[in-house]
Amino acid sequence: MGFYGEQVVPRIIDKACGAKSAVPLRRRVCAGLAGDVVELGFGSGHNVPFYPAAVTRVTAVEPSDVGWKLAAERVEAATVPVQRAGLDGQSLPFADDSFDAALSTWTLCTIPDVGAALQEVRRVLRPGGTLHFLEHGLAPDEQVRRWQRRLEPVQYRLAGGCRFTRPIVNLLTAAGFSIAEVDVFYEQGVPKFAGADSLGAAVSA
Ligand SMILES: C[S@@+](CC[C@H](N)C(=O)[O-])C[C@H]1O[C@@H](n2cnc3c(N)ncnc32)[C@H](O)[C@@H]1O
Repeated sequence: MGFYGEQVVPRIIDKACGAKSAVPLRRRVCAGLAGDVVELGFGSGHNVPFYPAAVTRVTAVEPSDVGWKLAAERVEAATVPVQRAGLDGQSLPFADDSFDAALSTWTLCTIPDVGAALQEVRRVLRPGGTLHFLEHGLAPDEQVRRWQRRLEPVQYRLAGGCRFTRPIVNLLTAAGFSIAEVDVFYEQGVPKFAGADSLGAAVSA
């Protein structure tokens, strides 16, 4: 990865993901998390202030050293221990059944083999554990999908491999999760092609 991907993209992501408009969504997706949690694509830690008191420990999986450094203040201020222990969601260095819950926000768009990553999340979640997700993906409307297909190559190059057209709920069910709840909506203040969000919880059987 070159200078742009290593140094610039994580800083752009930090600013974009730090938008105030995301706060109520982060609060919603983190609600109900409890116990030992693995967070996939931790980025610069924008979910940290929203971990509920019932969370006992968070293990961050994040490939970007710059992203992790930008998270430092949030990690220090966290009310639960947060440690970075993985670099790639496609291959998690954790034992089977080792987490009570998982969290992924705006990350499944970027992981190259997202199916492999979801299989890994299932493997490390205990039976009945939940993945809380907040992801942008394939829009419900064909007119918006057309723009997503047109703009995806540019997004992919500028935003560290992010794709607009991933069908989030289908990917989760294909990986063997059952959807406990999901809300599909266009995010306020974000162009529809980039803000077709799915927020919910999926259970690992
Ligand atoms: C759009 S950012 C979202 C960051 C954070 N989840 C948030 O909501 O602010 C996507 C994140 O996925 C991370 N990522 C990229 N490839 C990954 C992989 N293979 N495994 C885990 N995370 C990955 C990126 O480094 C980046 O931090």
